[in-house]
Amino acid sequence: MTDTPTLTLRGVDLYRGWLAPEAQAAMLDDLRAVIRAAPLFHPETRWGKRMSVRMTSAGRLGWVSDRRGYRYEPRHPSGVAWPPIPGSVLAIWRALGPAGRDPDCCLVNFYGEGARMGLHQDRDEASFDWPVISVSLGDEGLFRIGGVGKGGSTESVWLTSGDVVVMGGAARLVHHGVDRIRFGSSRLLPQGGRVNLTLRVVT
Ligand code: SIN
Ligand code: MN
Repeated sequence: MTDTPTLTLRGVDLYRGWLAPEAQAAMLDDLRAVIRAAPLFHPETRWGKRMSVRMTSAGRLGWVSDRRGYRYEPRHPSGVAWPPIPGSVLAIWRALGPAGRDPDCCLVNFYGEGARMGLHQDRDEASFDWPVISVSLGDEGLFRIGGVGKGGSTESVWLTSGDVVVMGGAARLVHHGVDRIRFGSSRLLPQGGRVNLTLRVVT
């Protein structure tokens, strides 16, 4: 695999099919173990609205949201520590991310039928000097990318299973979201759905 992006949109690099199908299946097995230890939950926004995406995390810190707001916590809402980030996932960061440090958090998002994620920035981290690296598995998702500032035009691209996206440098704070998924478009997850992982340096 080369490390030249297939496509760069608004400064966001897309590596199409970075993970071969066997590697996707193996990673999914690793994630099933993560989810057994730290089950997926529906976070609430700070306004008390249930998000359509279910989430959990691996790593030293996990991302949570409730009426107290968005933040990173050392424990799953059940009180257990987040499980470690699987080696298969860390390998992507080590291949495409900056040298010298591993991510603190791997946020695991699960999109069932009808789930989506509104346009937002990833800005709950202490520094924006490190990229956010995202991995898509399973059903296709329509990923929308805007600018760093609010408003303005956006562009969209379908992310497919095995794709890796790097939001770094001037594109670290771009607005992004997932408008919809094509439920059942991939056979990786027998029951359908899309998994997205985002790797973040938090502190
Ligand atoms: C996210 O912004 O946390 C998820 C992005 C995606 O699902 O592709
Ligand atoms: Mn995000």
